[in-house]
Amino acid sequence: MRILVTGKNGQLGRSIYKIVNTANGDNLPPNEFIFVGREELDLSSESSISHYFDRSNKFDVIINCAAYTAVDKAEEEQELVNQVNHLAVKQLAGIAKEQKAKLIYISTDYVFDGASNKPYKETDTTNPINVYGKTKLAGEKTLQEIMPTDAIIIRTSWLYSEFGNNFVKTMLRLGKERDEINVVSDQIGSPTYATDLANAILDIVQNIEFKEVGQETQVYHYSNAGKVSWYDFAKEIFKIAEVDCKVNPITTQQYPTPAKRALNSKLNQKKIHQVFEINSGHWKDSLTQALQLIIK
Ligand SMILES: NC(=O)c1ccc[n+]([C@@H]2O[C@H](COP(=O)([O-])OP(=O)(O)OC[C@H]3O[C@@H](n4cnc5c(N)ncnc54)[C@H](OP(=O)(O)O)[C@@H]3O)[C@@H](O)[C@H]2O)c1
Repeated sequence: MRILVTGKNGQLGRSIYKIVNTANGDNLPPNEFIFVGREELDLSSESSISHYFDRSNKFDVIINCAAYTAVDKAEEEQELVNQVNHLAVKQLAGIAKEQKAKLIYISTDYVFDGASNKPYKETDTTNPINVYGKTKLAGEKTLQEIMPTDAIIIRTSWLYSEFGNNFVKTMLRLGKERDEINVVSDQIGSPTYATDLANAILDIVQNIEFKEVGQETQVYHYSNAGKVSWYDFAKEIFKIAEVDCKVNPITTQQYPTPAKRALNSKLNQKKIHQVFEINSGHWKDSLTQALQLIIK
């Protein structure tokens, strides 16, 4: 299969690249992976997207890891965020349909408002409370409209990795600079190590169910197992990394941000386990694994 991965410089794109280009990738059947970044395929430009696909051979699978992910800045750049997270997805879906390619779209826990106290199921009512979440949901909906079959939407949460910027790396930096820090304790979710999500996506791509043509487009939830607050997550990061920094719990109200945050981001993952037999490891185990790479 010819598999296109967008967002090659992002956390997830680099994690997929890492797997297919290391020893682990040897276990995968041979596929041709093409990784593209903003330079080759700029999702903020309709003509860049058309131009790229006009010049490329057809793909069998498109994994769209690129997105506008700066949640707070998104509040000020609504037009750009909507273009990248929604309108570009509409265009990609049209192209995928034309090429008879499968499309995998990565979405977010932020499509929910976080008011429920239960882990969110794929069928729960969406109600995004910030611009980023609204545009990601618009991306999901347009994809479902254009590709009622042959696409997959994977919602994930609290992504981190050894690549790029993320909460784990920010905590390690602050922990070295300061004696104590304040971290929000009333937002609960499940961290997701990007390598685990990348492995899950690659498992899906190899799955016989996925390869079947004409399957109804589905939404799946994927994160690491277990739940935690940002405060407890920060404490665990410092514990594993042996960083001597006191963590003080604060409330969301005490830490105002331009974009509203959901209080509950927990995703129910039964469906992805049932359909693809994907089991995500516990967030603490994945954090330990990731920190070995981040700290070294
Ligand atoms: N991070 C999270 O906590 C989180 C949580 C839930 C869901 N997700 C979703 O998971 C997916 C992967 O996230 P991630 O953490 O890997 O994101 P990331 O590290 O921020 O990477 C996103 C990538 O998208 C690229 N991009 C942004 N605008 C673009 C444009 N106009 N044209 C082409 N590429 C563009 C960026 O390119 P540059 O490197 O050139 O800037 C970057 O490499 C995204 O769909 C995201 O919405 C993330």
